[in-house]
Amino acid sequence: MMKKTLLITGGAGFIGSHVVRLFVNKYPDYHIVNLDKLTYAGNLANLKDLEDKPNYEFVKADIVDSEAMLNLFRERQFDGVIHLAAESHVDRSISNPTEFVFTNVIGTVNLLNAAREIWKDNSEGKLFYHISTDEVYGSLGSEGMFTETTGYDPHSPYSASKASSDHFVRAYHDTFELPALVSNCSNNYGSFQFPEKLIPLFINNIRNNKALPVYGKGENIRDWLWVEDHARAIDVIFHQGKVGETYNIGGHNEWTNIDLIKLMCAIMDRKLGRESGTSEKLITYVKDRAGHDLRYAIDSTKLQNELGWVPSLQFEEGLEKTIDWYLANEEWMNNVTSGDYQSYYEEQYQKR
Ligand code: NAD
Ligand code: TYD
Repeated sequence: MMKKTLLITGGAGFIGSHVVRLFVNKYPDYHIVNLDKLTYAGNLANLKDLEDKPNYEFVKADIVDSEAMLNLFRERQFDGVIHLAAESHVDRSISNPTEFVFTNVIGTVNLLNAAREIWKDNSEGKLFYHISTDEVYGSLGSEGMFTETTGYDPHSPYSASKASSDHFVRAYHDTFELPALVSNCSNNYGSFQFPEKLIPLFINNIRNNKALPVYGKGENIRDWLWVEDHARAIDVIFHQGKVGETYNIGGHNEWTNIDLIKLMCAIMDRKLGRESGTSEKLITYVKDRAGHDLRYAIDSTKLQNELGWVPSLQFEEGLEKTIDWYLANEEWMNNVTSGDYQSYYEEQYQKR
């Protein structure tokens, strides 16, 4: 196998940490550089098991710093980039949209410029792989699924910023022949997810007997995929995907929020030795999220047919595994929810 120097951005975050772990362990001949700013969402504790691996290196940097990106790319001459660094939470994008423009749009363009610069004379075998979301396609009614040709129709500042970055990646491919591709994935769940997102937040609240704030009527639908299946898809697409293409990644696993929350409550009652029905009493209906997309559902036929990827885990099994992980890793949860987190969360909750 050819020795490659690979940049993974956002590797200290939720999905990034799973991607870094997979690549470091599976490809001992690659040199993996994990670049992360370590925002509130980035946590090196997510990668503790990799600290001593000879093919792994961490660089603390901000992708919004164009000069730092250019210097790093010139110095390291990356062969490939897997770009995950982003501001990723819809609710935060509603309270502070501008931060999402800086990191998600300008940060991505800075990386594209740096890749273009170092690959300008020879881009053979190089790849800029941009990780995106199905939220760029907007919201579905009760029928249909997002395919790779669905038009973009983002509604939240988060999805608008991701849509913009996707367009820039494709524009650099079309205009400058930068070898690039994009994948758009549905909602991920699993270990190391920051507890502002639905599943880890509610696991933590159930454990601590805190209210479960359900937005609106809880009828919104999300298509959940186990994070390690997303990481496997990223591996397959990075190595076998066609430059210039888009791949949708999803689990064919749609749940209304309320059904999912009730399932989590039932599993948690059993795990915590509580009488059945106890945790459901924590459900509290609160003001809906502004611009709340009704339904996401991904058609991943292209990825399955062309590259042979299929999700490995049934949802009920994955959810149970995920709950077990959070219950066994209380210290991780307590660390990430200490400091500024409590006041941020209380403030968000009060607003509703
Ligand atoms: P996350 O918020 O857990 O992690 C993001 C990481 O990026 C953090 O480690 C953070 O420190 C880092 N980061 C943020 N701003 C940075 C900057 N300016 N410079 C360098 N690093 C910076 O997010 P996640 O859920 O792991 O999502 C990762 C990627 O996958 C994002 O691009 C997101 O849009 C995409 N995605 C997420 C989901 C999902 O369900 N979570 C689904 C589809 C796509
Ligand atoms: P989230 O995990 O924020 O992911 P996304 O908005 O990117 O899909 O939310 C998942 C769903 O759960 C979404 O429909 C909003 C809803 N939700 C709640 O009802 N209450 C909450 O406290 C949170 C964080 C989300």
